[in-house]
Amino acid sequence: MKVCVIGGGGREHTLAWKLAQSDSVTKVYAIPGSKAMEDVAECVAIDWQDFAAVTKFLQKEAIDLVVIGPEAPLVAGLADAVRAAGIAVFGPSKAAAQLEGSKVFAKDLMKKYDIPTAAYGVFDDAAKAKAFIDETGAPIVIKADGLAAGKGVAVAMTVEEAKAAVDDMLSANRFGDAGHIVVIEEFMVGEEASLLAFVDGTTVVPMIASQDHKRIFDGDKGPNTGGMGTYAPAPVMTEALLKEAYDKVLVPMVKAMKAEGMPYVGCLYAGLMITPEGPKVVEFNVRFGDPETQVVLPLLDGDLGEIMMACENGRLTEDMVSWRDGSAACVILASAGYPETSHKDDVIDGDLSFTEDTLVFHSGTSFKDGHYVTAGGRVLGIVGLGDDLQKALDKAYERVAKVRFEGRQYRKDIGQKAFAHLR
Ligand code: AMP
Ligand code: GLY
Repeated sequence: MKVCVIGGGGREHTLAWKLAQSDSVTKVYAIPGSKAMEDVAECVAIDWQDFAAVTKFLQKEAIDLVVIGPEAPLVAGLADAVRAAGIAVFGPSKAAAQLEGSKVFAKDLMKKYDIPTAAYGVFDDAAKAKAFIDETGAPIVIKADGLAAGKGVAVAMTVEEAKAAVDDMLSANRFGDAGHIVVIEEFMVGEEASLLAFVDGTTVVPMIASQDHKRIFDGDKGPNTGGMGTYAPAPVMTEALLKEAYDKVLVPMVKAMKAEGMPYVGCLYAGLMITPEGPKVVEFNVRFGDPETQVVLPLLDGDLGEIMMACENGRLTEDMVSWRDGSAACVILASAGYPETSHKDDVIDGDLSFTEDTLVFHSGTSFKDGHYVTAGGRVLGIVGLGDDLQKALDKAYERVAKVRFEGRQYRKDIGQKAFAHLR
């Protein structure tokens, strides 16, 4: 079958690379893709926001399956438009994508169906929000309701910080429509893990757990980013915790979506906090994680194209999804100024080719005058594969040392939390 990936970042590079290896897939396209993705896909410069142009292209090329990478097109309803044109999609409908598109929607649904998450309140009035903060005390977490590219969350250590975040979101209108409503949450203590699952509307098949590193600096210091590195499998998710998360989070949420008349098809991403009371949901995302995808998919042994089509057809089975032994680790190289700003056009020096045990996925690069240059906050995701986590990390960092550009930033402590569980 012919598959078309929507998006052009590191996650989509990984999706296209893996789909190109699937026996069931004869050709991969990408809208818009990227220069680096041309090695595995035919990239077509169409704006995904132009649904009519997208569906016209898909029909002309007789594409069998569309894989939507980022949240924005899902929340905007691209999956519905493509399905209406008679083409299969891996990704939820606009209605189901509210699970990521609206924090209030997600929290209310978790409350209704008894899915463990932080206690919360919803506010559109700054004075009431501040009164709630005074009552609850700090630390406390303030979240803009809508999509804010990972930046709509303030983890406030003091009451003053929390109130300033409320002013920023509600009064200063910093997040526009996404921030007219805020969710104020109980601060949860624990280690985080990302648990992604294939879902066909009913059946849930979890992937191996991974762990992201959200802060820009080593030791989880500095501002939040889109994610500075990942590894999989993450040993914080023991067999017992995986079962608990499956039984209490993934399955109940998929049942809830069906009961609410918006069956979930695609990748369901549960961002979990492993608290002393068990796993609790930090957030749901309606797509693969970035850079979780970069470490999870290289370890997948099944045929990704077949799995994704089975999700759309309601025929997903557990035996389609199996995993290789060993570990994967991804180190993100970010450009100067990230996450506040990003720097473009710094020349990337070094070999970016794939080897047997290292993969170089492009998050934000462009190709100018015969070489790659930086073109975004997160620039490259360098993945190492090995028999165990230490070997995977060694491979990744060996490659990192050989890829340089002006102002390059990366974390040197990716994966270190895992060793506390492995000892
Ligand atoms: P989110 O964008 O919802 O993933 O939040 C970004 C980060 O903020 C998460 O990865 C957590 O590290 C942190 N965070 C969000 N909500 C909470 C919470 N209720 N308690 C503690 N930390 C949180
Ligand atoms: N890496 C976090 C995310 O994809 O949301």
